[in-house]
Amino acid sequence: MIVDRPPMGWNSWNTFGENISESLIREIADAMVDLGYLDAGYNYLVIDDCWSERQRDSNGRLVPDRKKFPSGMKALADYVHSKGLKFGMYSCAGVRTCADYPGSFGHEFVDAETFAEWGVDYLKYDYCFRPDHAPGYVLYRKMGLALRNCGRDILFSACNWGIDNYLEWMHSTGADIYRSTGDINDSYISMRDIFESQIDKIYAACPQCYNDMDMLICGMNGNGNVAFGNTCTEDEYRTHFYLWCLFGSPLMIGGDIRKFDNTTRKYLQNKNLIELNQQHEFRSPYTISAEAHRYIFVRLLEGGDFALSFANLSDGDYGMVAFFSEIGITVSCGYEVELTDMITGENCGIHSEYYKETIKAHSCRMYRAHLAKIK
Ligand code: GLA
Repeated sequence: MIVDRPPMGWNSWNTFGENISESLIREIADAMVDLGYLDAGYNYLVIDDCWSERQRDSNGRLVPDRKKFPSGMKALADYVHSKGLKFGMYSCAGVRTCADYPGSFGHEFVDAETFAEWGVDYLKYDYCFRPDHAPGYVLYRKMGLALRNCGRDILFSACNWGIDNYLEWMHSTGADIYRSTGDINDSYISMRDIFESQIDKIYAACPQCYNDMDMLICGMNGNGNVAFGNTCTEDEYRTHFYLWCLFGSPLMIGGDIRKFDNTTRKYLQNKNLIELNQQHEFRSPYTISAEAHRYIFVRLLEGGDFALSFANLSDGDYGMVAFFSEIGITVSCGYEVELTDMITGENCGIHSEYYKETIKAHSCRMYRAHLAKIK
């Protein structure tokens, strides 16, 4: 078993795209440690697309870009490991990667061996440029087997964007996490669309095969590779993070952590939200109310408590009511519900039958709910 909780870390794509180098990766590794991200649980540092030369060498091996990574990947992996972090890389199931570098099609086993030799701990495996005759499930099963036999524990991050009936076969490939959506960009609408597309599919995620809703855009503030002219307010970024925690998505930060302000760092490192995300038992959230971009979610937590989350993703403030009978807590059952603000830890009282609150547009409220016996 490689992971027993959704992985957390940082990925180069959202901000840096092709502008990656060994000095950048070293700086990010330093920042992950010095700024508290590793201690908070973010331990994978992943280099996305655009890291290699445009052609394989004469032995058919992938070669790191000589200008961007002059010391090679083994040396970089050693540095990342020396900081107590794990090292991730990227390849693709097709003949070329999405940014047109060599893909692993037909080279799966030798590439898995190469990654193992370099000390890679995590492989993101993309879905561009597949030959017509090669079904996706065969390609992911093939790389899944290659990774399991390469002599090193490498987390398999399958990135097929939730297409080609992936739920029927993804689990069978050995994927530890599976990207279930198209690419996120730095805008509220992109984040919301991705989130809403997963509400009826999240049931399929399970321990050791987590539903990856794409890298976080928090803290990008309009800068970087997936910033296309829109951006999010700080509240919208928080909402994004809360929802990814609630749904147990891998938490891969995509912004430039060296430059985040304290507010961003604080919520990304909030212990209670991370605990919500990292539930070992991993029960799926469910809706007790869903209308016009407004949702009330319940998710069982380990022990007897549950998360109660109000997500108002619509454009206006709205009074939202959670009726406890929807969860089975009727007046006659002998229990009421005690709420604690999940972010601040503040006690928000004991409530009977329902809880009502006005939730601001594009915001979430997150509670830990505890059953309190009526005396
Ligand atoms: C695809 C993936 C992205 C990123 C790019 C890199 O679009 O979905 O997450 O890895 O490729 O080219």
